[in-house]
Amino acid sequence: MADARPFHWEFTPPPVPREIFRVEGGRPLHGRVAVSGSKNAALKLLAAATLTGERCRLTNVPEIEDVRVMAETLRDLGVVVDHPAANVYEIASGDVDWLFVPLEAAAKMRASFILLGPLLARFGRVIISNPGGDRIGRRPVDLHVDAMRALGASIDYRNGYYFATAPGRLRGGEVRFPFVSVMGTENAMLAATLAEGHTVIRPAAQEPEVDDLIGFLQAMGAAVKRTQPDTIEVEGRKRLRGADHRVVPDRIETGTFVIAAAVTGGRITLKGAPCDHLGAFLETMGLIGVGVTCGSDTIEVDGSALHDGGFRACDIETAPYPGLATDLQPPTAVLLSQANGVSRIHETIFEDRLEWLSEVRRMGASVEVLDPHHATITGPSTLVGTEVEIGDLRAGASLILAALAAQGTTTIHGAHHVHRGYENIERKFLDLGASISRTAEGQ
Ligand code: UD1
Repeated sequence: MADARPFHWEFTPPPVPREIFRVEGGRPLHGRVAVSGSKNAALKLLAAATLTGERCRLTNVPEIEDVRVMAETLRDLGVVVDHPAANVYEIASGDVDWLFVPLEAAAKMRASFILLGPLLARFGRVIISNPGGDRIGRRPVDLHVDAMRALGASIDYRNGYYFATAPGRLRGGEVRFPFVSVMGTENAMLAATLAEGHTVIRPAAQEPEVDDLIGFLQAMGAAVKRTQPDTIEVEGRKRLRGADHRVVPDRIETGTFVIAAAVTGGRITLKGAPCDHLGAFLETMGLIGVGVTCGSDTIEVDGSALHDGGFRACDIETAPYPGLATDLQPPTAVLLSQANGVSRIHETIFEDRLEWLSEVRRMGASVEVLDPHHATITGPSTLVGTEVEIGDLRAGASLILAALAAQGTTTIHGAHHVHRGYENIERKFLDLGASISRTAEGQ
């Protein structure tokens, strides 16, 4: 590869403008709120659009920071990414001559690694940064790399970068994962659509966002199908065509709002809500005592049990879909702080998803983190507004929930993390009657 630009061997991410949320708690939420398109689907759909030189059009794309970062990353490669209207993106990947995904992209967003599969499959080579670093180093990408090798790619790792090549074309093959990986499945599937021959991916992730991606790929002319709940099969094609696609609603945002209604003892209706994708979560809500009614594309939430006998404690365990989503574990933990009795949390997917509980403890929750995978919460606790710090996206949204449930004012530092994944979050909460404002740090 002719590399005119130097690599950034050492890289410190530029400072992100820091923001604060101020939330005055104790107000029950009421009203209707529209669910946005799914972050975890939209990012992969944008990457998938690079599999063809023809124009693709995505609608219902959430207006969030991670989508902007992905769009910028694609533009840096030479992909034309237009944003003609709110929630609409058009992508044309005709001449991509700079097949280098730098550390800047990976440092901002781990999901940039999803570009490995499609770029390698379409252009036969890519240099892509390992989204490592101290904090997310615990989230490796070895499964993605092994999957590409199973499809015939050569991949070397030097100085923080994967140098991947597939002279000619990738070859279809057996991709066997030792355990389920969402992006691993997606990367393998994206690569296989342009490989020569047949690919079987097993165990394949069953998340609804993976099926949304399958739908888009099929519209692009790919021969890809889920043949068993845990198996995806792909017959490689020489080329794909442009297609239009509407992004599936965000089940994680939906769950976050369900809990917002519950912890404030409010009643809200979620419009465009994907009830079918929230089975395990809604079952858990039922056990805890949150009233949830699913319509054809609405969910009505009744949190009146908060003041009417209280919520019930519940033991929860996260699992790959169709189990309880790890992304909904932090919001559920906030709800459990308001339930009667001892609840146990078993976080089976990630090792860093319980750390943020120290912040909610500072607000008065009775929480004990036993090890990186287990915690107990004893409720109900009266939460009291204080100063807290957001460490990552899902913890951020959950601290807003805790603040909505708390007495007094909570100042939440690191608010910018939340905009990575939630569209207009303070506008949506304001429309439901919350008292929340966002300002730059230091104002
Ligand atoms: C995706 C979601 C994230 C969600 C997660 C689990 C996106 C952009 N993110 O992340 O919101 O929380 O699924 O539902 O879609 N692992 C390895 N090696 C790998 C890849 C993963 O060991 O190469 C491990 C991870 O550390 C984790 C487990 O596999 O313990 C599952 O992670 P995975 O499903 O891959 O998560 P992501 O796809 O990164």
